[in-house]
Amino acid sequence: MSGVFITGTDTDCGKTLVSLGLMAAWQARGERVLGMKPVASGCDLSPSGLCNADALRLLAKGSHAAPYELINPYAFAPPIAPHIAARQAGIEIAAGPIARAYRALAAECDRVVVEGVGGWRVPLSPRLSVSDLPGILDLPVILVVGLKLGCINHALLTAESIRARGCTLAGWVGNGVDPRMQAGEENLATLGELIEAPCLGVIPWLEHPTPERLTGLLNPFV
Ligand SMILES: Nc1ncnc2c1ncn2[C@@H]1O[C@H](COP(=O)(O)OP(=O)(O)OP(=O)(O)O)[C@@H](O)[C@H]1O
Ligand SMILES: [Mg+2]
Repeated sequence: MSGVFITGTDTDCGKTLVSLGLMAAWQARGERVLGMKPVASGCDLSPSGLCNADALRLLAKGSHAAPYELINPYAFAPPIAPHIAARQAGIEIAAGPIARAYRALAAECDRVVVEGVGGWRVPLSPRLSVSDLPGILDLPVILVVGLKLGCINHALLTAESIRARGCTLAGWVGNGVDPRMQAGEENLATLGELIEAPCLGVIPWLEHPTPERLTGLLNPFV
């Protein structure tokens, strides 16, 4: 069983889109793949409890149905920083439930795609950060770079911190979140030169950014 942890240069950089695209690519190769969003803030109340849109999309894309609580063990209503949402809910986010949920999912499939929350150094509790999760789950990291002005700095800082924390940066994906970005090719060339990991794909700005549109754009070699 091998999984992957998806982080990004920021919130809204395309982590969910890339996660779904990778799931589809691995599924097309015959693998059974599940998605996971361990921590989500910004949830709606459903008859079965709090549900997050990313987690529901990852669940729907899974090769088989899995319990929501395993896909998203920590769900908080307000769309705010997760450690603050947790504190407001009187909960401390801990590694144990995340690791147990991950192991339960991993036992049932070939690969789990785990989407982070926000960017790489987002705190989850006084004792835990997003950047601790790949080590705890023993997963390589894929960095989604939301292509916009400032992304080179964010991408290099994130890549540096991934390595400094002893994690494996398996690759990065450039995602065209800004249709007005200038010098896109030159930015991509710079990212390619300076991020010491392979580029697994470049996604242009898409009017309808569905995972199906990513077919052939991602190299899911990991
Ligand atoms: N290549 C693209 N072209 C156009 N729109 C895009 C592209 N990639 C992402 N988007 C849009 O940008 C928004 C953020 O994308 P997405 O939800 O995948 O980001 P995220 O990093 O998972 O965000 P979050 O931090 O909330 O989890 C969505 O509305 C998505 O449809
Ligand atoms: Mg997301």
